[in-house]
Amino acid sequence: MAWTIRPMTITDYPAVLDLMKRTPGVSIRATDSPKDTARFLQRNPGLSFVAFTDGLLIGCVQSSHDGRRGFMQHLAVDTTHRRQGIANGLVKHCLDALAAADVFHINLDVFRNNAQAKAYWVKHGWTLRDDVERFSLIRTAH
Ligand SMILES: CC(C)(COP(=O)(O)OP(=O)(O)OC[C@H]1O[C@@H](n2cnc3c(N)ncnc32)[C@H](O)[C@@H]1OP(=O)(O)O)[C@@H](O)C(=O)NCCC(=O)NCCS
Repeated sequence: MAWTIRPMTITDYPAVLDLMKRTPGVSIRATDSPKDTARFLQRNPGLSFVAFTDGLLIGCVQSSHDGRRGFMQHLAVDTTHRRQGIANGLVKHCLDALAAADVFHINLDVFRNNAQAKAYWVKHGWTLRDDVERFSLIRTAH
């Protein structure tokens, strides 16, 4: 079935959240609230994308950069539409948009137990780093 990809806007948020919620391997955190997502999209215009077929949202991805490095997150394709090249299309849109911003070093996080996602990234030439570990500090707003 034909599908299309376009930049994500905040009006896509409910359908994106719904897809993320029903996709194992994708985590939803406090920073994925509507308010924070709106701010993310505003700070990173044209870097997040959604895929549709028949008016139905069936894929999503978000990316951003800090002027030096890019970051990709929340890639998900509905189980009913996998293996049709939709993830490839979404990732290509992000990589092209990041390249247009002169950003060519891109990182992403994958849960250690998400074998499917790891296989996908390895197949597409991404390198699993074994020289770094991620530290996080999660503070409470005052
Ligand atoms: C990983 C995921 C996004 C792939 O979506 P998809 O739309 O089925 O992928 P595509 O159809 O675009 O596949 C593109 C290519 O990847 C390959 N591929 C897809 N899933 C794969 C898998 N699980 N293992 C290995 N290769 C895979 C396809 O064979 C295809 O190869 P090609 O480029 O040589 O033709 C999808 O399985 C998914 O949503 N998984 C759950 C969410 C998730 O884990 N997201 C990643 C978070 S980091």
